Amino acid sequence: MGIETAMTGIAAERIAADWHAALAALAWQLDAGVDEVLGEGPVDRFALAAETAARPPASARSTAPAAAAAPKPAPRPAEDPVAVARAVAAAAGSLEALREAVQGFELCDLKKGARNTVFSDGNPKARVLILGEAPGRDEDIEGKPFVGRAGQLLDRMFAAIGLSRHSPDAEAALYITNVMYWRPPGNRDPEPAEIAMMQPFVTRHIELVDPEVIVVMGNTPLSALTGHRGILRARGNWVTALGRPLLPMTHPAYLLRNPIAKREAWADLLALKARLGR
Ligand code: URA
Repeated sequence: MGIETAMTGIAAERIAADWHAALAALAWQLDAGVDEVLGEGPVDRFALAAETAARPPASARSTAPAAAAAPKPAPRPAEDPVAVARAVAAAAGSLEALREAVQGFELCDLKKGARNTVFSDGNPKARVLILGEAPGRDEDIEGKPFVGRAGQLLDRMFAAIGLSRHSPDAEAALYITNVMYWRPPGNRDPEPAEIAMMQPFVTRHIELVDPEVIVVMGNTPLSALTGHRGILRARGNWVTALGRPLLPMTHPAYLLRNPIAKREAWADLLALKARLGR
């Protein structure tokens, strides 16, 4: 092997190694929820923030003689997101007003990484309100809750007892929403602080729809409305939340992973059907 051939071999190995490293880095980013390209090159926002902070304000950069130093305004107390959410949610007098209030709420960081606010789907006159956890990738793209694989299973489950989100008849209709209106990155569970921040909106949402019965799908909405976790023990047992009957059920994503649990989910659906007198 001549020296040039050896060099070419080394270069080829390096390219292959770089290729594998780049692929691994990409996979890692996808796992972390980075699934969209926003720019051609990376931006170090920490460096940008430091640069902006170090730069004197425009007034100080002007060539005019410096005016007497104005008294500094007192720093504004940091906004308490839960208190803001409570005030904004309470002021919403209709579902449309609440939708707009949620869309305009900027204090939840999940909103920054989401494509869409996923507010609800279905018939607001429905007797049954289904409360899920948070949008996933498909819901984030479509802007509607439960449209991915788990959502398709949910539709089939409720269709089996004659209920549908598409029904114009309140008797046979469903209204569907989530505890969280934006997709958490990488489909992680919403954090307690995020749930607490959005809770006033969820509570107001349920008040405005005023369903006869709430069905929670999985642990996150169970704990948001009752303060308890342990969906596998709680499922099928009616409790009261927000002054109305609440039926805990296992999440359809859990049923996709554990098809054996569909038998119990079917029993829960029959209990719901009986409760509605259908
Ligand atoms: N899982 C949920 O809990 N909600 C959705 O909207 C989608 C999947």
